[in-house]
Amino acid sequence: MSKDVVIIRGEALADVAAKLAGEKEIFIIHDENVAHVAAAVAAALGGVKAVIGLKTSEDLKTMDTAVWVTERLLEADASRGALVLAIGGGITTDIAGFAASMYKRGIRYANIPTTLLAQVDAAIGGKTGVNLHGYKNMLGAFHMPEFTFLTASVLETLPEKELRCGLAEMLKTFLIGDADAYARAVSSRFSAKILDGQDKNGLPSRKNAKIQDELIFGAASIKADIVRRDPLEHGERAVLNLGHTFGHAIEHCSKGEIAHGEAVGMGIILAARLSEGLGLAQKGLAACLEKDFQRVGLETACPYGIDELAAAMKKDKKDGRFILLKGIGQPVITTVKEDDLRKYTE
Ligand code: GLY
Repeated sequence: MSKDVVIIRGEALADVAAKLAGEKEIFIIHDENVAHVAAAVAAALGGVKAVIGLKTSEDLKTMDTAVWVTERLLEADASRGALVLAIGGGITTDIAGFAASMYKRGIRYANIPTTLLAQVDAAIGGKTGVNLHGYKNMLGAFHMPEFTFLTASVLETLPEKELRCGLAEMLKTFLIGDADAYARAVSSRFSAKILDGQDKNGLPSRKNAKIQDELIFGAASIKADIVRRDPLEHGERAVLNLGHTFGHAIEHCSKGEIAHGEAVGMGIILAARLSEGLGLAQKGLAACLEKDFQRVGLETACPYGIDELAAAMKKDKKDGRFILLKGIGQPVITTVKEDDLRKYTE
């Protein structure tokens, strides 16, 4: 997989048309919840071969759904030159990307993420896949999108919970890659509703659009740089999993009640406690992150004990590896003995 990681920053959705000029076979796969976005993109592109809506949830993120997508592509005569355009959150881009990786041994795809979480993380870097028996992303492939198109204009109707989930992934990226941006994100109004102002007609508007756009693009760019250096996660890319070993276990234990981003937020706090316990980080790191996360509206207390988490973690793909922090902006990849895990996260 030698393709570059391409992030395009667009002012408006219609800007994507310039990037796709000359494409002869575009198949849009979109989350049903953003059918209006898919319709707007299809109108801007013209001549799209098919627009296929997906119901999305972690329960529906399965091999059956991915195969269903390939069946729709076959039915619509998609050739090996076709391009799948995924429009939606991380579940949609993961399924559509995985379907594209399988169909005719792999066709191209591109992403227009419509959630903050997908914009800063899931839709960048080519990890595609589905869940297996409730365990996250157990089946999948590395399949790099042609590009990920970012426009904050699509976030304006995003529910608050979704924004918080994205914020957790954004803070994660800054915690591993940019201490200044972390401080800016914590003190920005990203924590509040994205629609935090009113325009001259009294309609909601993004008062802090400039800083929000910069933070989104900043986090996406940090991730893109890491993936460029290590696309197949032989080493450095694993730092993007900060908070995820705990996070995936929390998600699994909650049976879907706690969303991915929320679980990652709690997982980062547990990782910070473990970092302190093992003497990697100075005392006080976990308390400091907890305060920051609470300030931006993230829940920090994990409702599960270490026994439950440890059982779920055994099935995770990380094989006992943890991403810990020496400090803000200083991730470290390490294995942790089960005794230490219990001792410092009880
Ligand atoms: N979400 C972590 C990665 O893409 O590597």
